[in-house]
Amino acid sequence: MCGIVGYTGMQQAATVLLEGLKRLEYRGYDSAGVAVIKDSGIDMRKVSGRISKLCEETNNGEALPGCVGIGHTRWATHGAPTDMNAHPHKSNDGRFAVVHNGIIENYQSLRDELIGKGYLFESETDTEVIVHLLEMYYTGDLKKTVLRVSSRLQGSYALGVICTDYPHEIVAVREASPLIIGIGVGENFFASDITALVPYTRNVIYLEDGEFARITPDEIQVFDLLGKIVKKEVRRVTWDVQAAERGGYEHFMLKEIMEQPHAVEATIHPRIQNGEIKLDDERMDAGFLNNINRIVITACGSAFYAGCAGRYAIESLCKVPVITELASELRYSEPMIDEHTLVIVLSQSGETADTIAAIKECKSKNASILAIVNVVGSTVAKLADFILYTWAGPEIAVATTKGYTTQLVLLYLFALYTARVTQRIDDKTYRKLLRAIKTLPRRIQESIDMNPTIASCAEKYKDARSIFFIGRNTDQAAALEGALKMKEISYIHAEAYAAGELKHGTIALIEEHQPVIALCCNEKVWGKTMNNIIEVKSRGGDVLAVTTKKNGMISSVADDILYIPETETLFTGLVEIVPLQLLAYYTAKNRNCDIDKPKNLAKSVTVE
Ligand code: M6R
Repeated sequence: MCGIVGYTGMQQAATVLLEGLKRLEYRGYDSAGVAVIKDSGIDMRKVSGRISKLCEETNNGEALPGCVGIGHTRWATHGAPTDMNAHPHKSNDGRFAVVHNGIIENYQSLRDELIGKGYLFESETDTEVIVHLLEMYYTGDLKKTVLRVSSRLQGSYALGVICTDYPHEIVAVREASPLIIGIGVGENFFASDITALVPYTRNVIYLEDGEFARITPDEIQVFDLLGKIVKKEVRRVTWDVQAAERGGYEHFMLKEIMEQPHAVEATIHPRIQNGEIKLDDERMDAGFLNNINRIVITACGSAFYAGCAGRYAIESLCKVPVITELASELRYSEPMIDEHTLVIVLSQSGETADTIAAIKECKSKNASILAIVNVVGSTVAKLADFILYTWAGPEIAVATTKGYTTQLVLLYLFALYTARVTQRIDDKTYRKLLRAIKTLPRRIQESIDMNPTIASCAEKYKDARSIFFIGRNTDQAAALEGALKMKEISYIHAEAYAAGELKHGTIALIEEHQPVIALCCNEKVWGKTMNNIIEVKSRGGDVLAVTTKKNGMISSVADDILYIPETETLFTGLVEIVPLQLLAYYTAKNRNCDIDKPKNLAKSVTVE
């Protein structure tokens, strides 16, 4: 969702803030603003549009002198992306400015109350109530005022506050939205995530829900919302600046696709020792796993589709029923979950609001939570009983790629590990599948090596109005993710269908030259999918098949073919997704789309 950043030190604050905002822009990018404290008050600039526009209008921050400030990049929730609705928001008396990520759920009643008391609102945002509350409750004591205001707010918020009476200080408050403090030398920072901080420092403090920090150039004090000091651990971030930069690639998405062999290797490698899989938490042993009689996989978007793809390996190897449920649905359903249920939660960011709510719902029913998550110390990681980190490094492009593949490979590892420790697999099969998992980074690289062929294939889809993705079983799960990739970055309508379902209605849409991408990588079912391809062809559809060289029949039914490298049938989903990522990428590129920042989207969906 939105990104917020704060700086206090000796440097030109606006310049530092703009650098931070550029790195947070993937979180939301419809408007942006910065505010700094200067001698005569608070100086503020806000624009609708991208950070680059804000940089132009402020001469890269030079036009806003001052060493203390806050900044914001917005993904609009309340109110259109206009200059007025952009953050920061300033109090009527000009003493306070605020940036906010999250949603104030009781903003309407607070707004009515404040208007009744004579406060003037300039925007349609929920956030603006905060700055007027600060003014209303201000007694000259900033800490007490922040405590009082926080007690009036319901919802999720990460806040950055500046006050002209405290010209060296920034205040950061966290409630259900991510917030990290960066510790420098003679300067300190806060930001929504680490990517904005790594150029300046690797030493960070993670705020917890219900905590706030007073930050000056030389001191950081963290309090709980009763005002008591909280002792915090300083953590060292392992990501470096290069990891968060494009490194010569035209887009982050392409860079992240290319990083997949390495990311998958980094995720697998430390967990295989002397021919045995070691999952990070020893409590996940035979006793615990034998007690599980149902697995629920929950997540949102691509993370959910990784769950759908991984489900087949878990069911097949562990012989446990697996249910996949979208987190946004699970949180409002009455899931059949108890202390014998293991809930596997997948999230790249670890901050997705629906996913967090689903975890809380499952915990209230005594289920155990295993989180597969990329961001260390994120909310999902904190709420889980067991964590398996994907070692994908920072993922910046809104469209996830290495996040997805590292999640999926961890599901494969989990499935094989569980089957082994609960003795549901024979030694020979275990060894064969483990060998196959170890070769997956290489297989992904071979898929990536098809890049030029895929780029030329993508030419065909430039003007498509709609594309179907079909497949069965593991291929169907890949179809879901392939279609999502295509729609989110190319804006072409794309629909994933279980191939066998086409004839139950959707085949009515197949007409002359309708593009259909048929996934035939799963040997167990590709014969059946090929029958569906023939049905599509008989109605004039154009079929691109994704399969392996072993499938000798495909050339007689499909118009175009992409051959992926062979691997174990259970694990083909990880290899076949790569050409679909590249196909979406080149289609979007041919259509001149803004690939890393697709319209209406944000990387981390921290609101419901
Ligand atoms: O950070 P998360 O993995 O929890 O995010 C879940 C989805 O929002 C995310 O996968 C989204 O669908 C991606 N934009 C897809 O590329």
